[in-house]
Amino acid sequence: MTFKYIKTLAGAALLSTVAGSALAEEAVSQKHAEAAVEYRQSLYQLVRSNMGPLGGMAKGAIPYDEEVIMTNAVRLEQLADMMVDYLSVDTRKFDVKTDARDAIWENFSDVEKKVAALKTASANLQSVVEAGDESAYRDAIGNVGASCKSCHDDYKKD
Ligand code: HEC
Repeated sequence: MTFKYIKTLAGAALLSTVAGSALAEEAVSQKHAEAAVEYRQSLYQLVRSNMGPLGGMAKGAIPYDEEVIMTNAVRLEQLADMMVDYLSVDTRKFDVKTDARDAIWENFSDVEKKVAALKTASANLQSVVEAGDESAYRDAIGNVGASCKSCHDDYKKD
């Protein structure tokens, strides 16, 4: 397990140096596939908990709180940094309860682009808050939301 983890990290690091992208790897057992689904769904629960308040502010349901926007935008960027790794385990061959579409592992470089869009939108939201222009908050949060939707439309069942 530890060895495999190190190997995966080293492989990903090497590959990102060479090609700027990660590689999907097939789950090796039912247990591995189930764990991979649990981890990626957990990651998205953290994404959701950080996006929720931002969505509420953009809708006007709760007042803008710059500290919360900044904190959550930084976290969303960090969670985006983990996303490619957590999506990279290809669970298609196993019977798992997942909303992930098979197309993820047929189109992994496109998935990486969608992750990058979330990262860019989260970083932009931080810049907008730093600039303190409240009139731009709504659009900047909207761009983050659009990056979620763009990936879900293609790669998440619902
Ligand atoms: C690069 C693609 C991608 C991006 C970007 C993305 N998602 Fe998802 N999301 C998925 C996939 C795939 C699943 C299904 C995971 C599974 O069931 O195995 C998912 C699942 C979820 C879930 C359900 C988790 C669960 O417990 O089953 C939530 C909530 C969620 N995403 C919220 C978000 C929000 C909010 C954003 C944007 C801030 C976002 N996602 C961005 C691909 C993405």
